[in-house]
Amino acid sequence: MPENKPWWILVGGMRRLGGALAEALARDHALVLTGSQDAEPEWLKDLARQTSLQTFRWDAMDPEIGPQMMADLAGLESTGIHLSGAVIAAGVFPEQPFGTWTMEELENIWRVNSGFPMLCAQALAPRLADGSCMQFLLDTCIHQPFLKRLPYSASKSGLAALVPGLAQLLAPRIRVVGHAIGTVLHDEATDPQWLASLSLLQRSGNPEDLARSLRFASESPYLTGEIITLDGGRRWR
Ligand SMILES: NC(=O)c1ccc[n+]([C@@H]2O[C@H](COP(=O)([O-])OP(=O)(O)OC[C@H]3O[C@@H](n4cnc5c(N)ncnc54)[C@H](OP(=O)(O)O)[C@@H]3O)[C@@H](O)[C@H]2O)c1
Repeated sequence: MPENKPWWILVGGMRRLGGALAEALARDHALVLTGSQDAEPEWLKDLARQTSLQTFRWDAMDPEIGPQMMADLAGLESTGIHLSGAVIAAGVFPEQPFGTWTMEELENIWRVNSGFPMLCAQALAPRLADGSCMQFLLDTCIHQPFLKRLPYSASKSGLAALVPGLAQLLAPRIRVVGHAIGTVLHDEATDPQWLASLSLLQRSGNPEDLARSLRFASESPYLTGEIITLDGGRRWR
């Protein structure tokens, strides 16, 4: 196994897009992956053969999640692992048409999509090496909200507002960047041709497109407080 790879943490890095990013980043990164479920996915065993790997169970719904994250990160550091990058990918994407909203469901979405990433930022900032980049996965809906998913869109817009403020708080030691992405990994129920037709480039993205953008931000020491829109031009249609 190659030594001396930089350690990055991917919050929400065990499933779906986060998992695909972990696979894309493993060749040149050692990885800490978090997920909310008890069982870890089988493919992590393959990933552990490619790179150094640690996992944490971080569930946004856990009332003790703030202190839990702090304790896990302190424990990580005590083993000699120092993080030099963070990607916060955790989120939920429910369809919630206007007229069906309840306080309970709204609180859940704020919790996972906004509160949890904020707590992650708070726990991670003191643990990241100087010069690190903290990156948030946002959504192109911050430009044009999804009307059937307005609570989702609002939660991502709230997170987008965090990016410049956090960049100010954490500069010059840590840079903060958001990625407002179009579809880079679709669910099976959605027609891929329809998704492709939504973008100027007439295609969906893929996890490699996003990994390239994450690497670009990480390797750009003059970049902070910005949101990169990576949606094939969907926002301009
Ligand atoms: N897929 C796309 O094309 C696309 C497009 C635009 C934006 N995004 C954004 O990119 C991110 C990842 O997308 P995705 O498609 O992989 O979304 P997803 O299928 O909703 O999965 C999101 C991640 O969040 C984690 N998660 C869910 N509930 C959690 C909880 N209670 N506590 C902690 N973690 C939790 C999941 O892991 P566990 O199940 O292990 O907890 C999973 O890794 C999301 O923030 C999404 O909004 C994705």
